[in-house]
Amino acid sequence: MQKIYMDALNKLKSNMDKTGNSNYVSYAKVVTLAVMNMRYEKIAFNKKLNDHPYVLTKNIIEDALNMFNAMSDSSFIESGKTIEKTKSREKELKHQLLFNEMWNRYNREEFEGYVDRYVYRININNLSDLIKDKDCIDLGCGNGVFCFALLKCGAKHAVGIDFGENSILFAQEVAKEKSLQQRSNFVTTSVYNTTLETDSFDFAVQNGVFHHLDDYEKAIVEAKRILRTGGWFWYYTDGEGGISYDLWDTSVEILRDVPGDFIQKILEAMSISRNKIVHLTDGLSATYAHTSWDAITSVLSKHGFGNFKRLTGGFDTDFDLDKIQSDPYGKEKFGEGDLRILCQLVEK
Ligand SMILES: C[S@@+](CC[C@H](N)C(=O)[O-])C[C@H]1O[C@@H](n2cnc3c(N)ncnc32)[C@H](O)[C@@H]1O
Repeated sequence: MQKIYMDALNKLKSNMDKTGNSNYVSYAKVVTLAVMNMRYEKIAFNKKLNDHPYVLTKNIIEDALNMFNAMSDSSFIESGKTIEKTKSREKELKHQLLFNEMWNRYNREEFEGYVDRYVYRININNLSDLIKDKDCIDLGCGNGVFCFALLKCGAKHAVGIDFGENSILFAQEVAKEKSLQQRSNFVTTSVYNTTLETDSFDFAVQNGVFHHLDDYEKAIVEAKRILRTGGWFWYYTDGEGGISYDLWDTSVEILRDVPGDFIQKILEAMSISRNKIVHLTDGLSATYAHTSWDAITSVLSKHGFGNFKRLTGGFDTDFDLDKIQSDPYGKEKFGEGDLRILCQLVEK
């Protein structure tokens, strides 16, 4: 069946593009797109749909169009202020600014819950033997969440690097509070050139980072350089082909001039949970490159990685293989799904 929702999605984009970026209209765009994407999640995770998901998706896009038209029709009441545009459309700079203002907003209780999600992921995939007493590195660590999970799972030492200074400061602060400074190190640097020593890690993680890069292969080469032969790589990247990718990608395109901070503040005012705020702000602002299992494992193989295994996310909101296979519309909804790959550096 054809993706019959695409015409409605293109119409929503063209209507939103025509209306400019005053405060009121930008607010209307953010709320409308947040609602549309969250309503789609309800479709995505319902295995007993009464209709084809393409039809249901078209309906929620048409609702979004009506909602936005009603809001922009009443925009004459605003004083006419235009929001400050996002500081850069240049992809990587935009991401640096966006994530730097995102990861440091967790309070300690929320953060601990977030760390435990990763501990759970490590455990359900039986990875503790690859981590216990090992030297680990997290490439694009954000606030260090995965590093703290690795340390909880017995890593000897964990290094987290990220080009977001505020995120690194947050991680350093947490390490200090947890008295983990001896077992961790958080550094502001780029995944393309980490400045870390060659052959110094047994376990590397890139968790949702390389799909945001202009040149992910260059980052794979750097990961290979710092990993020891026989070391393992947790490689999590976005799949391709599902409905949600179309909705999120179009939303990002529509909101290209709206700063992430503006989006976050609206969602915070709506009392949405921190994890959902992060999920929505990221989904509405960050650019993703999509790929397939075959394409990405072939690039990794070219750089000496092998022994590929598909991992599970373990949560209801993850697009895991079992979820895709057990849903009559799994392929349409999730495409390739979340690609959580474990692989080993078999040769340098
Ligand atoms: C989606 S977040 C994921 C954060 C973390 N890995 C996690 O799982 O929570 C992507 C992270 O990659 C970082 N990042 C993106 N491009 C980078 C680059 N070229 N060098 C270093 N960090 C980068 C961003 O600052 C951001 O913190």
